[in-house]
Amino acid sequence: MNLPELLRARPILQAPMAGGTSTPALVHAVSGAGGLGSLAAGYLSAEALAGQIDAVRGLGTDVFGVNVFVPSGSPAPGSVTAAYRSELAGDARRLGAEVGPAVYDDDAWDAKIDLLVSSAVPVVSFTFGCPSAAVLERLRAAGSATVVTATTVEEARTAAARSADGVCVQGVEAGGHRATFDPAHGDDRPLLELLPEVVRTVGVPVIAAGGLMTGEDVAAVLAAGASAAQSGTAFLRCPESGAQAPHKAALADPAFTRTSLTRAFTGRPARGLTNRFMDEHRDAPAAYPEVHHMTRPLRAAAAKAADPEGMALWAGTGFRLARELPAADLVAELRAGAAEAGARP
Ligand SMILES: Cc1cc2nc3c(=O)[nH]c(=O)nc-3n(C[C@H](O)[C@H](O)[C@H](O)COP(=O)(O)O)c2cc1C
Repeated sequence: MNLPELLRARPILQAPMAGGTSTPALVHAVSGAGGLGSLAAGYLSAEALAGQIDAVRGLGTDVFGVNVFVPSGSPAPGSVTAAYRSELAGDARRLGAEVGPAVYDDDAWDAKIDLLVSSAVPVVSFTFGCPSAAVLERLRAAGSATVVTATTVEEARTAAARSADGVCVQGVEAGGHRATFDPAHGDDRPLLELLPEVVRTVGVPVIAAGGLMTGEDVAAVLAAGASAAQSGTAFLRCPESGAQAPHKAALADPAFTRTSLTRAFTGRPARGLTNRFMDEHRDAPAAYPEVHHMTRPLRAAAAKAADPEGMALWAGTGFRLARELPAADLVAELRAGAAEAGARP
């Protein structure tokens, strides 16, 4: 797939959102409206991912992306996860749930890459790291354009050096996990500061992400050199989004006033609506994915009890502008708004 041509035709991207948000219906609606929808492979088994790819194609959509978590870091010391387990005991008691096992895994990396090589999905994107040049080449040979997410100029340079077809620049405003290769050496820069530097550094198309909620926001990043704009939070309240009902409601609830970065839910920095769980676990360890597996039953119990204070309410800084409207209408509005603001779409 020729990425520059694809992005010229479809400059609005729906961000891949793991955890059930990027449903096949959302991807189909976005791509059907002239945007580029993306499935999220994170946390899924390869079999479940294959089912979602089939579902998107079964709906009649062939142009879409799939995003994969790159295994990163190393197992956390048992003492670190044991200490966090003790800290979570009160939450578990309150919710009538048990803290999950502190599992370190690679999110079925090899099986997912093999599946994608045989699936020839038009775009395969990555977060949390940069795959080897050999993996990127296997995907390219299979017909996929590859995109690596970067939060620093250095990460973008690595992606370009390994011949990724494109770079997605994620600013600190973004909802969900920071894409940082190594959170111990992260750099939380705003999108409009980082974007022009990355555009100057890499010779491949750059997709901008982080806090893009309106057509004016899209126009601003295109003017700053991006080839396309990627939004996640703006799509969370769409009817096709699989975000859980209390998450959707919290985005519009005046009781939630701000977002923060936290490791409390997964052990990796991520941005969400600031709630009690985040406040009570400010010093959560850097232990991904162990902490993700440990808090999973707690988050599920909180969601079942419709208690947003115990859920991961991923959201970017622009969350107040997230509206409940069909995804196709949102894509059309973003395109029209960007054109009105003087941009190409
Ligand atoms: C609920 C949610 C889940 C996300 N999951 C992923 C993911 O699986 N893979 C990924 O690369 N980015 C993920 N992101 C980050 C997005 O790709 C993107 O960087 C972000 O949504 C852009 O900022 P915005 O939310 O302010 O639009 C997620 C974001 C949200 C809000």
